[in-house]
Amino acid sequence: MSKPKGKTPTQKNKHTLADKADKFDCYQQSVQEPEHEIDIFEQTFREAYNRKPLTLREDFCGTFAVCCSWVESDSKRLAWGVDLCGETLQWGKDNNLSKLKVKDAKRITVLEQDVRELGTPQVDVLAAQNFSFWIFKTRKEVIEYFKIAYANLASEGAIVMDMMGGRDCYDSDVVDKRTIVKGRKGFKYHWEQAHFNPVNSHCTFYIHFKFADGSKIKKAFRYDWRFWTIPEVREMLLEAGFRDAVVYWEEDEEGEEDEDAIWSQVEEAPNDYSWLCYVVGIK
Ligand SMILES: C[S@@+](CC[C@H](N)C(=O)[O-])C[C@H]1O[C@@H](n2cnc3c(N)ncnc32)[C@H](O)[C@@H]1O
Repeated sequence: MSKPKGKTPTQKNKHTLADKADKFDCYQQSVQEPEHEIDIFEQTFREAYNRKPLTLREDFCGTFAVCCSWVESDSKRLAWGVDLCGETLQWGKDNNLSKLKVKDAKRITVLEQDVRELGTPQVDVLAAQNFSFWIFKTRKEVIEYFKIAYANLASEGAIVMDMMGGRDCYDSDVVDKRTIVKGRKGFKYHWEQAHFNPVNSHCTFYIHFKFADGSKIKKAFRYDWRFWTIPEVREMLLEAGFRDAVVYWEEDEEGEEDEDAIWSQVEEAPNDYSWLCYVVGIK
């Protein structure tokens, strides 16, 4: 039997935009806004302690884009990034750290280790962004992590975590699609809510990227998490020793651009179909 004419599937796909793309670069462009995170850290810390925070530990730091913005934002600021994935940290060194001025880069320390290990000086702000602590699926594991986070904070210190929720977030088999870069070389970000088990709140999400030529990076990132709720997280922070656990919600200002968003402490919030907020543990 003769082979079919034309290119083999591997040859055919060799020069697609997906082949040329870098999944970490697409990720950063799609889901990260380090300057915004720093504004939130600064606001929440200032409202707790009435001064500017200078030291940051970024747990689950990935490519440590937030550490990089932190040191750039003030010449007195120091940052520690912690993640257990060597490949992701290396990408951050090659692509984020390398772009900083030497005087800024040297104020960042990156550690390839589990976030549940001590080993950094006590800091003002400990950040765990993009729902990363949801990797811990039991109260025991989360409280253990929060106790370690508490120990990693200075006597005036705050842990800042983002949270998502709303009824849309519990759907299974749905994909939220957003255009990140328009045009011939552009790409779309697909957030797939693949699975949610209401019995134990375990869930699976994927990030895919789709490019202008139709090619895709499928399952670029996969997350197997427990879908925690705000009251559970507040209770666990208090159980771990934090003296307060407060919630910051974005004020619904008509016509406001995202970068002008105002965040404030709330005890009640609108029951939106989908929302993002911050939970802050105050030491
Ligand atoms: C959802 S990503 C978040 C990356 C980044 N913080 C952000 O905001 O986009 C989760 C990261 O946590 C890391 N990770 C997962 N479990 C960890 C653990 N126990 N200790 C340290 N890092 C961990 C993964 O390697 C991955 O880089």
